[in-house]
This record gives sequence, C-alpha cells and structure tokens, in this order.
Amino acid sequence: MTRTSATVHVPLGARAYDIRIGEGLLSRAGAEIGPLLRRPRVAVVTEARVEALHGATLAAGLEAAGIGMAALALEPGEATKSWRSLETVVEWLIGEKVARDDVVVAFGGGVVGDLAGFAAAILRRGVRFVQIPTTLLAQVDSSVGGKTGINSPQGKNLVGAFHQPRLVLADTGLLDTLPERDFRAGYAEVAKYGLLGDAAFFDWLEANAPALAAGDPAARAHAVRRSCEMKAEIVVRDETEEGDRALLNLGHTFGHALEAATGYGDRLLHGEGVAIGCVLAFELSARLGLCPQEAPSRVAAHFDRMGMRRRLADVPGALPDADALVGLMAQDKKVRDGRIAFILARDIGAAFVARDVGLAPVRALLAEALADRARLAVS
Ligand code: GLY
Repeated sequence: MTRTSATVHVPLGARAYDIRIGEGLLSRAGAEIGPLLRRPRVAVVTEARVEALHGATLAAGLEAAGIGMAALALEPGEATKSWRSLETVVEWLIGEKVARDDVVVAFGGGVVGDLAGFAAAILRRGVRFVQIPTTLLAQVDSSVGGKTGINSPQGKNLVGAFHQPRLVLADTGLLDTLPERDFRAGYAEVAKYGLLGDAAFFDWLEANAPALAAGDPAARAHAVRRSCEMKAEIVVRDETEEGDRALLNLGHTFGHALEAATGYGDRLLHGEGVAIGCVLAFELSARLGLCPQEAPSRVAAHFDRMGMRRRLADVPGALPDADALVGLMAQDKKVRDGRIAFILARDIGAAFVARDVGLAPVRALLAEALADRARLAVS
C-alpha cells in the first residue's frame, strides 16, 4: 500500500520523466511501469543483497499487473562497476532477447543504477530503462539526472553516457533495511542540496534530520522529495554539465581525492568522502574570505550531531600528505586547463563554481587538517 506519495517531474522535453516518491511503491511497480511497456515483461538488473531483501516484493508488484520479469543479481560493491560486469549485463540482456522497445529495470543502489543504466544506453544503441533506487544516496542523487557509467582501472566514472531513465520509483520504505552507515553516507548528499542552494532546507534538516534518521516516514519523504526537486531543477538547467550541474559536486573534489587515497572501499564510503569534502569546501571558502567564518563550523556541527564522518581524523588508516592529496584531485575529471574546479560557497545555501582557485590555499588547508588528525591520534 502506498501511504505517502509525491511526484517530481523532470521536464527534459523528449526525455522528460517522473520521479515517484513514497512508501510502498515497490509493491505497485507493475501499475507504475506497465504504461511504458509494449509487452508485459521486464529485465531487472540488481545485486544479491537487494534481491534477497526486496526481490520477491518487486516480482509480486509486477505480477499484480501481469508483468513477468527475468533478473540478474550481481555482487554488491563498487568493484561491480567494471568493464567485466558491463559485458556480463549486456550479454545477459541480449540473451534475454531485450529488444529496442523493451524496458530494463535498475533495482539497487548507485552501483547498479550506473551500471544497468549504461548497459541500457549502449544496448542496441539505447533502450529505455527505469530506476528503482534502494539506497538514500541513489534515491536523492544517482538515480536522477541520467549519469550512467562504470569505473576504469584509472579512475571512477571515467566511462559512461548520459541516458535519462523513463521513470524513477523511489520507495522510501526500502530505507528501513538500509544499514545505518549507508544511511548516514547517503544523508551527506541530502545535506549537500541545502548547502549548495537552499538555506531554508538546511535549517529544516538541522531541526528534522534526527527524525529522518530515526525512520520518520514524513520526514524521509520530504527530504527525498526536496532533494529530487533541486536535482531536477539543476539537471534541467544543465543536463550535460557544461556549467551549473557542477554545483552538485559540492564536496566531491576533496571527497574523490580521499576516496582514491583510501582505495574506493569500506575505509571511506562515497558519501562519507562527500561529507568531509563539504566541510573542507566551506573551510576553504571561509579562508578565502568568501563566506562567513561561522559557516564551516555550523556544517561540521550538524554532521557531528548526525554521527557522520566529517573530518580527516574520522578516516581510519594512513593518508598521504597534502601534496599527494592535491595530486589526486588533479587526476579528477573536473580539471580543465590544469586548474581544478572547486565548488565554493558564499554562505550556506549559496554555492558557486570557482575555476580560478590557486592550489596553495588548498594545500595549506589539507596540511592543517592532516596535522589536526595527527594531533588527535596522539592525544
Ligand atoms: N551526482 C552528480 C550529478 O548527477 O551531476
């Protein structure tokens, strides 16, 4: 049963679609997806954990509308976003006789969504796909906006395509089974929207995020909806990231360097890197005299209250020095003409894309953060 539901429309002309948000949407999947189908069958790409937890609900939801499904369950984890898995998925879809007018369903978190979306983008020069995101991160960010792709051995998300889904079904009830650490990591992307463009939303999060973390359905639905509205609005302005879409990378330049330094694994989840990166981006903005001095501590205090990783001292194991971290930032794909694009802020809710930041203040900030980390480790 759907208890609360909302629709965010993404008005992209011929590529327009709806994001449906609500509890219990999975059991209505057939009614939601059915109008897109030319024959009553879908190919579902998922991962083993999600299949075990929610596969039967999806199958029943489709079956209720007379829709059959075939499913491929991959290994969970970032390593699945690989050339090898792409080949597995594409060959499986061909084996399942998925035709140009069929629909592929990506059922899982960001890894499954990015991989299955990319497979759909290249299969038969593009077939339609539906995102059913099962993590907070995927519901508020990766399932919306059409970025699909895989990692190369040389870096994250280096291979991919823009391919918009035809529908996103964000069943907020699925967040009940999300491990707490994944919830907190995904929450960094929710907070990011307030920080980059909606101070009132950040105020709301400061007051309501503890209820959100405790599972309050109305708070959860509101947070996912507002995040999707903001993402949709930015994507419509700049679908292929020529300009403003880069705002969505607030915290990501620092975050990606930390993820690279920690091996893209369990030591530091993507959202944890983003949270630490957001605090560093506000600190850098304050040091450059661009935003009020108290803004970084307000961001850090909120993340601290939410039990999130928010500083370098929260990253376990060894980290490279400031020069090496800056080097990792320079390998990131957001580099143009040798200058790193940073998302800086004039205040909470007022981020902007800065392409002319010198590396010296970045290096100094990281050196100090690393020194704080060392001090905290010995005290
Ligand atoms: N996750 C950033 C973007 O979709 O542009």
